[in-house]
Amino acid sequence: MESRPWDNGTRIVHAALAITVLAELATGLVVAQATRPHWLYIHSILGMATTLVIIIDWMWTWARRDLPILFPWNRAGMRIVGREAFEVFQGKLPGTGDRTGLSSFVHGVGLLAVSGMAITGILMYMEIPGGYGLSLHSTAFAFFTVLATTHLWLSYVVWAYLVGHVFFALLQQVLGHNVLRHFYLDHH
Ligand code: HEM
Ligand code: HEM
Repeated sequence: MESRPWDNGTRIVHAALAITVLAELATGLVVAQATRPHWLYIHSILGMATTLVIIIDWMWTWARRDLPILFPWNRAGMRIVGREAFEVFQGKLPGTGDRTGLSSFVHGVGLLAVSGMAITGILMYMEIPGGYGLSLHSTAFAFFTVLATTHLWLSYVVWAYLVGHVFFALLQQVLGHNVLRHFYLDHH
């Protein structure tokens, strides 16, 4: 299947997404140590910037009519994704670029995972004791625990996504498909 050319908007939003999500993964590691409380504030303020970028990414994806490419969750789309996944085991890498296929499907899952981080993170921030809004009676505390657990587990998904995403980008690059150039340098 043919791939559409990337545009500058996608490039800028992707760079912003990569930078803010990397910052959240890094500060999240410090928060998880629970020894330096003010890092939670740094993580939360950065988190709001990250959330803004994620919202802009969704809006850009929608405006560019890329939603069906990132979410090919229908019979025709999943047939292509399934075939490309099968071919990986035969040593054939999936196609690259802005097209329906395995890699775009995974990009969609990555966008969902970081969106889940944003939603659970913002809700926790609103619930934090002495912070903003809700007082912590027992149901609120139970809710906080659910949010924190989900936030933690989703962070593993985001780490796994990042490692795989960068690994396959570099692999495609080394094998001469030049995804980095197509994504960031080519002009159409
Ligand atoms: C955790 C941070 C990151 C997230 C959430 C993320 C997410 C995404 C998404 C959603 C796309 C699809 C673009 C679209 O259709 O709008 C994409 C494409 C791409 N990303 Fe990332 N990305 C991240 C970090 C990185 C990093 C660090 C690199 C550098 C190696 C990178 C390299 C690429 C490339 C080369 C493409 C284009 C792939 C192709 O042409 O098939 N990404 N990324
Ligand atoms: C991609 C985005 C994000 C990543 C990867 C991330 C990662 C993490 C990690 C690893 C932790 C430690 C979890 C633990 O040890 O229990 C954490 C905690 C936390 N994060 Fe995030 N986070 C993100 C976005 C956000 C956002 C947007 C907010 C809110 C504005 C936020 C607020 C919090 C809060 C309040 C905690 C403390 C939770 C607790 O007490 O267990 N995070 N985050």
